[in-house]
Amino acid sequence: MKGLILAGGSGRRLRPLTHTSAKQLVPIANKPILHYVIEDLVGVGVTDLGIVVGDTADEIRASVGDGSRWGATVTYIEQSAPLGLAHAVVEAGGFLGDDRFVMYLGDNMFEDSLEAVVDGFAEGGVVSARLLLSRVDDPGSFGVAELGNDGSICRLVEKPDDPRSDLALVGVYLFGPAIHEAVRSIEPSARGELEITDAISWLVDRGDTVEHRLLDGWWIDTGKKDPLLECNRLVLDGIVGEVAGSVDDTSRLDGMVRVGAGAEVVDSTLVGPVVVAAGARIQGSRVGPYVSVGADCTITGATVDHSVLMDSSRVAGGAHLSDSVLGRHAEVSGGGSASLLLGDHSVVELGESRGVGGD
Ligand code: TTP
Repeated sequence: MKGLILAGGSGRRLRPLTHTSAKQLVPIANKPILHYVIEDLVGVGVTDLGIVVGDTADEIRASVGDGSRWGATVTYIEQSAPLGLAHAVVEAGGFLGDDRFVMYLGDNMFEDSLEAVVDGFAEGGVVSARLLLSRVDDPGSFGVAELGNDGSICRLVEKPDDPRSDLALVGVYLFGPAIHEAVRSIEPSARGELEITDAISWLVDRGDTVEHRLLDGWWIDTGKKDPLLECNRLVLDGIVGEVAGSVDDTSRLDGMVRVGAGAEVVDSTLVGPVVVAAGARIQGSRVGPYVSVGADCTITGATVDHSVLMDSSRVAGGAHLSDSVLGRHAEVSGGGSASLLLGDHSVVELGESRGVGGD
């Protein structure tokens, strides 16, 4: 069975971060989301991977390479434009051939292994698709599956106004070769995309067997700031403390804190769970809980909680950051509190009577 990872798209909901970088490479507990995705697939024996890429192809290639680090082989598929999940399948047709495959949205994260989900699918048979469903509180924001009395899927609706089910389609789909005819038979939706829900509905309407599995553990689409930070919290909840860098005598570490090699903690309090990557420096600050500090970041005289700081970002001068995501080399200073989503190289000065700027 092959793996198809979707790592193109527009990333509008995570702007301005996605103006300069790929949302699939945002780090969760200091590891890019896409690396978790690859580990998940390799973990269930799917090592022949195709990665669909768009405008951020170079960055994704640089981060993943040829896949050999995971024992996988990676084929990159350049999508001509981000015209939908089903469009990505059309353009990946040459790579997929007639093989059964797992399609995995490259910005989605799951608590549990995919083992139970993929079990038995590779062997073939009459099943054209297997969907993964999860109960959600706000089905109107998702693609939703309606089940018949016998438990089989009878209808799929994309973001229904009046949802008749709370079963959302989550970001892993298993397909047999029948999907290729489906994606070529549908028309673009009102938003101009070829929707995977329409392609699966096409299979259901034709009478193909489309089965489903219910997901137990958590699942997060990290494509917006708040779910991304929620995902960071959930993953940090599972870390084990370890200090490889230096922590001076005037500093205190509470709970699970990981300090990477070459990182320095001086005159600071770190309240776990917190991860601090190699080369970061934290001085005269309070950091945590639920903070991921990327490589070579500096936090000086500041307070940071519930946040993701990407590599080489800086927080200083009495700033209090909560629920924030800072892009690479972003800088925040000044004595005020804020919750920010900053793109790479942004500069923000916080202050009582001063405005907030950035680019
Ligand atoms: P989405 O998050 O649904 O779409 P998007 O990336 O365009 O984001 P936004 O709605 O915020 O503008 O996409 C899910 C995943 O699939 C994500 O990793 C991007 C990828 N994708 C493609 O590879 N090709 C596409 O044409 C689309 C729409 C998404």
